[in-house]
Amino acid sequence: MTDAFVLRVNGVDREVSGAWLGESLLYVLRERLGLPGSKTGCEQGECGSCSVFVDGALVCACLVLAAAAVGTEILTVEVFSPTTGGSSPTCSARSCAKAPSSAASARPGS
Ligand code: FES
Repeated sequence: MTDAFVLRVNGVDREVSGAWLGESLLYVLRERLGLPGSKTGCEQGECGSCSVFVDGALVCACLVLAAAAVGTEILTVEVFSPTTGGSSPTCSARSCAKAPSSAASARPGS
């Protein structure tokens, strides 16, 4: 079964169409939205190479259904890149300011 939905990624509403409702957020970000910054690794929630922020919480995108992320604010590593969005006006002060403090608290040992 396929469906269309909208994900808010790095401050921009992105339409996802033709997706299977069981596709992971990682797959949709990389393969359907062209955001390769989150890497495919173990796909079991162990390595963290697919990490993204969803509503300010660091999550493994390989374990999250993309359709379940509708209505959330998703931040990928691309939001920090000046060539792909870090200096973009679409990166609101609110959404970009959340990530660094959350990232600091998610670091091992902090
Ligand atoms: S790919 Fe390893 S935690 Fe998601």
